[in-house]
Amino acid sequence: LTLCGVVVLLAYLLGSFPTGYIAAKLLKGIDIREVGSGSTGATNVLRTLGKGPGAFVLFADCLKGVLAINLVYVLFNLVPNYNFIPLNLDVQLWQPWLVTLVGLGAILGHSKSIFLGFTGGKSVATSLGILLAMCWQVGLATFGVFAVVFAISRIVSLSSISGAVAVSILMVVFQQPLIYILFTLAGGSYVIIRHRSNIERLLAGTEPKIGQKVETES
Ligand code: G3P
Repeated sequence: LTLCGVVVLLAYLLGSFPTGYIAAKLLKGIDIREVGSGSTGATNVLRTLGKGPGAFVLFADCLKGVLAINLVYVLFNLVPNYNFIPLNLDVQLWQPWLVTLVGLGAILGHSKSIFLGFTGGKSVATSLGILLAMCWQVGLATFGVFAVVFAISRIVSLSSISGAVAVSILMVVFQQPLIYILFTLAGGSYVIIRHRSNIERLLAGTEPKIGQKVETES
């Protein structure tokens, strides 16, 4: 049980690693939280620093999620769900619970980073990494929803919110354990709540599309 607690804590610390903040400090000497949407995520890095840094932060933040879940698989010597067999058929009953707690730890870490005074991003890229490591089919399908909405709207926040809404349905479609469905309901709701300022702008018709300049968030 102690080891479980340590793994969840490690996942939180891993999620807390402020990739976007460090990239902006190193490349432009600015605090990314004071420009654009104020988020430390890949989207704000993209609009502030350009495509290369944006892609790097997207990859690194996604990797944090992948690593957090794989920490459980490695430390507990468990078999990851890299095939179409539902995870709960051939491993201990509690594994999905631990994977879920670790996932929540990493999501919380990214948006409430201990290294940034509990500020951060909106946990979209990290959640994608978590999903890919939990069940890659659901991860890819959720990314597909994101990609389709983005191709039509060119608005990242709207695409992220659509993915967050679709992910629980996709967990059901791919017959994942109940705890994973509950995880995506909680994680998806959290990601949507993190987008509340985006939602206000979307409703007001002022949410920027990729390529447009934005005012600093108050
Ligand atoms: O990944 C977060 C994205 O959905 C929105 O980011 O910077 O436009 O608020 P941002």
